[in-house]
Amino acid sequence: MTRLHVISAATRPTSAGRPLARWVTEQARERGGFDVTSVDLAEIALPFLDEPEYASTGNYAHQHTRDWSALVDSADAFLFVLPMYNGGFTAPFKNAIDFLYNEWKGKAVGIVSYSAGPTGGAPAAEMLLPILSRLGMLPAERSVAIPGIPKLLGPEGFQAPETLAGELAGVLDDVAELVAGRAAEAVTV
Ligand SMILES: Cc1cc2nc3c(=O)[nH]c(=O)nc-3n(C[C@H](O)[C@H](O)[C@H](O)COP(=O)(O)O)c2cc1C
Repeated sequence: MTRLHVISAATRPTSAGRPLARWVTEQARERGGFDVTSVDLAEIALPFLDEPEYASTGNYAHQHTRDWSALVDSADAFLFVLPMYNGGFTAPFKNAIDFLYNEWKGKAVGIVSYSAGPTGGAPAAEMLLPILSRLGMLPAERSVAIPGIPKLLGPEGFQAPETLAGELAGVLDDVAELVAGRAAEAVTV
């Protein structure tokens, strides 16, 4: 089964991403075909990049990097739950990406972005694409952008608009297809 890590990219204690990521995780589990792990960057609590060697060497001096490496390495694919800050992705998320290198390579990724304003964080997702490409990741063709996130949070967590589950299902289908394509490539090589 495809091991899918849902990474909540925000670290604020009151992050809207946490209830949203819980909903995304539930949806992915309900779909089936994925062994879903929920990853909260706030809990991972990485410092600013403090490794003496380049990540591409895989020589990690610190236990927090080895733990992060093992967690990312154990995934076949990812869903990034991505907030937008000042028109872009967040600094802690880029930092978490930069800690590693080969662990990301060749892996499918779907993006669920969100923001308070009307763009739903689509500019943050756009900004991330060249970085994913640089790392040799395989972005899903479809993505989800959720505008007006504060209005979608209630006492019972994230209240998904009616069409959202269908949109997310499309991203999950793309991710599954990319993983299957990669597995088929590995067999024919
Ligand atoms: C530092 C910061 C910058 C933000 N910049 C934008 C922005 O440019 N556009 C927007 O629509 N919302 C912006 N927001 C609102 C966030 O998109 C919204 O609060 C969202 O919930 C943030 O994710 P989080 O709650 O998981 O931290 C910003 C929020 C923060 C904290």
